[in-house]
Amino acid sequence: MISIGIILPAAGSGIRFGGHLPKQYMLLGNKPVILYAVEISLSIDGVQSVVIPVSPTDTTLQALLKHNNIDDDRINIVTGGNTRRDSVANALMSSSIADVDVILVHDAVRPLASKRLFEQIINAAYREGAAIPCVEESDTTKIVSNDFVVDTINRSEIRRVQTPQGFRREVLVNAYNNAVRHSLTGTDDASLVEAAGHPVRCIPGEHANIKITTNSDLIYVESLLSK
Ligand code: CTP
Ligand code: MG
Repeated sequence: MISIGIILPAAGSGIRFGGHLPKQYMLLGNKPVILYAVEISLSIDGVQSVVIPVSPTDTTLQALLKHNNIDDDRINIVTGGNTRRDSVANALMSSSIADVDVILVHDAVRPLASKRLFEQIINAAYREGAAIPCVEESDTTKIVSNDFVVDTINRSEIRRVQTPQGFRREVLVNAYNNAVRHSLTGTDDASLVEAAGHPVRCIPGEHANIKITTNSDLIYVESLLSK
């Protein structure tokens, strides 16, 4: 069986979402957003560790796991960083994932990714080193500078990218080392793997697998869940 580590970055403060409680702790249906990602992660065959970077002052996650009777020693809470990249980099140092075959990185704020998607990403990542969920874009997409259009992108070449993103462990570790060495940031993990020169396989993503960024995303996800 493929041995797996899952990193759930949860150290953000949700500036675009606003409010006092970080969005990963908002209630969705009857449970906090982050628990959807935690529960599905623990349910995947071969998962040895679920590493969750949270902000240094965060005591919410610990309390919430206890309150919801989630007591699984595969959960490892670590300290996150100022950027998502730093949070993932800290999580990568956890000894609990030092010997896994594949590492998945999945946003704590994407509650509706399916188990099937996790499994497809794991298999493709194991086979090819790096795999990410991609969906086609339906809007026309343009490059804009100072509020003027510079160019129109050929829509058939565009994909919106989701998580979970999966990598053979050494591919991700090399990419992060390379990123730190060259001060590269990126809004996802695959971009660092690309920068390190490794090919990244696209797997069909899921339209329901949205990232909760603003309050309207939470309302939309609630409506999907109640269906
Ligand atoms: N994240 C993290 N560490 C950071 C920043 C983000 O672990 N320093 C996590 C978030 O908690 C979230 C995921 O990365 O689960 C995706 O990030 P995003 O949607 O941008 O969340 P926030 O950074 O919290 O939101 P915002 O950018 O609006 O402040
Ligand atoms: Mg952010």
